[in-house]
Amino acid sequence: MLSLGIETSCDDTSLALVADNELLGQESVGQAGMHALFGGVVPELASREHARCIGPLFDRLLRRTGVSAGDIDVVCPARGPGLAGSLLVGVGFAKAFALGSGARFLGVNHLHAHIFAAGLEGELPLPALALLASGGHSMLYRVDAPDDFTLLGRSLDDAAGEAFDKAGKMLGLPYPAGAAVDALAEEGRASPRLFPRPYCDNENLDFSFSGLKTAMWNHVSAHPECRGSFDATSGEAVLPQGDRRAALADVCASYRLAVVESLCCKVEKAFTGSAAAGVRSLIAAGGVAANTLLRRRMRDIADRRGVRLCVPSLPLCADNGAMLAYLGALLAGAGYSHPPDMEIVPRGRPIPDDMLRAIHKDGR
Ligand code: KG4
Ligand code: ZN
Repeated sequence: MLSLGIETSCDDTSLALVADNELLGQESVGQAGMHALFGGVVPELASREHARCIGPLFDRLLRRTGVSAGDIDVVCPARGPGLAGSLLVGVGFAKAFALGSGARFLGVNHLHAHIFAAGLEGELPLPALALLASGGHSMLYRVDAPDDFTLLGRSLDDAAGEAFDKAGKMLGLPYPAGAAVDALAEEGRASPRLFPRPYCDNENLDFSFSGLKTAMWNHVSAHPECRGSFDATSGEAVLPQGDRRAALADVCASYRLAVVESLCCKVEKAFTGSAAAGVRSLIAAGGVAANTLLRRRMRDIADRRGVRLCVPSLPLCADNGAMLAYLGALLAGAGYSHPPDMEIVPRGRPIPDDMLRAIHKDGR
């Protein structure tokens, strides 16, 4: 099965070809630099940029992989969640391609694809517990099969990535700030009591991060000297030096610890409940799974529980076409496809409701 994945849900245009679980090639263009000037993604600019880049990226992908368009069996764009105008560019391109070439067409849920991304790099033993932490979502699932999910918990307010991005903005770091906060945190010393562990003291598996954001606001208001600044012309962060840089690094380390422990306390809790019955692996996925401390803590949990840790390499944690091509191939192989009038689902409900309801299995 030769599968073309198309990611345009937010600010990355990324196209990839996967054949028999192997990545043949991927071509991507990111827009972070452009949106950093505005402190967040500007939807109108994002969709225009996708429309400008998608055709040339597809040509380059074919050229570099030596694949001819007529050999592609299934085309799998991100169907949602994401920005409507951006999703429409990828889905429109995929529909046109499928109609012209006769390939099958299958819209793939972006979150669902994140969860399976690690499968491109190694075995992903199921059933699994999966933590998905990205810029827009924080979810905990039990995964029994590529098309069999149970949602165990989700963020009641901000996502973990959003918590990093908004805190970073308060600290004067450019959007998206997760990676910069992480890098600074590696230099700093965390004070475990500087920030709270919101929503850990209860029995459910949901998350909440908005209180952490408020705590950061209060801290920065009281200690403005720890802030960096942002040069809007170059889009670059200007970090303080000396003691002030050390103070900034310490705040980042304390904040990162609070976010990561808030995520991990619910993963630990999931392992003590019936949802963990028979579980063979622990998956961490989404952009925040690139976080250095989260990766270390998830490794500790997996080792203690005696399950395999499945975390994608850093490029596969971020938004990418390869994960869509990979999961699309799995689902297409199981008989799933969409009709050409499939609609995007910009604010799709979490898997499995949104994911499989409108999908047609074996033509039904
Ligand atoms: O999955 P993703 O690339 O896009 C969405 O689907 O949202 O996730 C992007 C998010 C951003 O919030 C970004 O700040 C965060 O992932 N992120 C990180 C790190 N690298 C990216 N957060 C914490 N630590 C990192 N190293
Ligand atoms: Zn994503």
